[in-house]
Amino acid sequence: MTSAPPPVEVDLLVVGSGVAGLTAAVRAADAHGLRVGVVTKSAIDAATTRWAQGGIAAVFDTSADSTELHIADTLAAGGGLCDADAVRVLVEQGPDAVRHLIELGAVFDRAPDGRLDLAREGGHGLARVVHAGGVATGVEVERTLVGAVHATAAHVDEGAFALDLVVEGGRCAGVVVARPDGTTQVVRAAHTLLASGGAGQLFALTTNPAEATADGVAMALRAGVAVADVEFVQFHPTALAIDRHPRPLLSEALRGDGALIRDIHGERFVDEMLPRDLVSRAITARMLEQGVDHCFLDVTGIDHFVERFPTIASRLGEVGLDPTTDLLPIAPAAHYLCGGVVTDLDGATDLPGLWAAGEVACSGVHGANRLASNSLLEGLVFGARAVDAVAAGADGPQATGAMRAVLGPPSADDIAGRPLAVTLRAASGAHRAADGRPPTDEAAAKQAAEALDRLQRAMTAGAGVLRDAASLATTAEAVEAAATVAGATAHTRAGAELANLCTTASALLAAAAARVESRGAHTRLDHPEPDPELAVRFVVRATA
Ligand code: SIN
Repeated sequence: MTSAPPPVEVDLLVVGSGVAGLTAAVRAADAHGLRVGVVTKSAIDAATTRWAQGGIAAVFDTSADSTELHIADTLAAGGGLCDADAVRVLVEQGPDAVRHLIELGAVFDRAPDGRLDLAREGGHGLARVVHAGGVATGVEVERTLVGAVHATAAHVDEGAFALDLVVEGGRCAGVVVARPDGTTQVVRAAHTLLASGGAGQLFALTTNPAEATADGVAMALRAGVAVADVEFVQFHPTALAIDRHPRPLLSEALRGDGALIRDIHGERFVDEMLPRDLVSRAITARMLEQGVDHCFLDVTGIDHFVERFPTIASRLGEVGLDPTTDLLPIAPAAHYLCGGVVTDLDGATDLPGLWAAGEVACSGVHGANRLASNSLLEGLVFGARAVDAVAAGADGPQATGAMRAVLGPPSADDIAGRPLAVTLRAASGAHRAADGRPPTDEAAAKQAAEALDRLQRAMTAGAGVLRDAASLATTAEAVEAAATVAGATAHTRAGAELANLCTTASALLAAAAARVESRGAHTRLDHPEPDPELAVRFVVRATA
């Protein structure tokens, strides 16, 4: 039997090792000299960040582009639910955040004149996306930040699965982690930053890796922390439609370079450069009309495809597809959770001592639909801001960003909050940590995996790109069934992740049922138009 490592106490504990978490860890250790710990449930570089393709949207070509144009595109994509101040912070601080990453060693693609080569993606009025290795940007960002964090004094704890927040005296005092050997430990921290990524594993069709199991959102809900905008799951329009989980992404940058979307008969039917929500909706509608499970991406018109997009070309080669001659089967797949744990402009949640940044957070920058390549940017900007606020002595939220919907009262220009209570049925992390059963119970892990498969299929069928009241109600029954299995298997990592997914699914379904309109990434077949009365944030809290 392996004994647990000694207890740790740090100034800042970062949960997760993607762009937001590692940016925060490096800054906290280097710029502010804080004692930093990073807990991450898999290997340090196994975060969703690594899977990001297109790049980082930021204004570098000031002859054609401007902060105001990037802001306008972000707001337009966001379906009326972006917080304008949060978007301004994101866009204004973006270029410096990218420059800082370059100082840390990131190598981005350059034009022949040495300037950053900029790509165009859907929803962007012009080319402003910085990229690396064609569309291997996430790999480069993760490589750079992993190297940078290892060069600091930050303590990185791989294989440490955060089960639950420790809440003492009305503030977050750290997390309980479980290790593969079954030991659990309380890691105490003056401040805890959730940077644990998204929830793609809720769906059968997703571009997200196995780690994306909504752990941060679920922990926050169990601790009574406010969560918002979780009904807005962004479905990427062009995931390669092959029998793989997760599905390989065909970057939006392909469309920026002229790739066309065609239906099963080879007809074009949608403007490829629209924001993702509209393209995914159009593809899904066309697939239903034609009774098929895919459309096609036609990249045969892109010159020098292999040189420009080497990683995609090689992945296509592995599955026998030739981009210069073949039409590539595509279908929308869950890609990004636009909402999450509500924060202010500095990443503070409504639990003092708890901060959130990156995909797990709802700062207000994405609204109802994230603009392409604004996510790595968000991690860079808001990961750093949270740390700067901690170092400056901030403690507890301000009524800024999405937090306005929680703390209110908002001014006439702000987006109001509408409270929504959900009952949590899946077992809590503290319960499963205490029950003493082996975490490697194979039968239980198998049961959890099978229940996850059923949950993912139900979510894709009933709470996917297109939803209605009946499909959401049916899906809620499937979540209940999965939560029962989670309760019985939560002593295994698979069961604990299933519990987190069920918890988050409950919040998502409650908000999706309450949002009786279509807006951004949330399309209700029974309410196809936006309702101006619902230009609000549903702020979800759990009841016991
Ligand atoms: C892509 O390359 O299409 C994905 C970029 C993003 O998620 O913003």
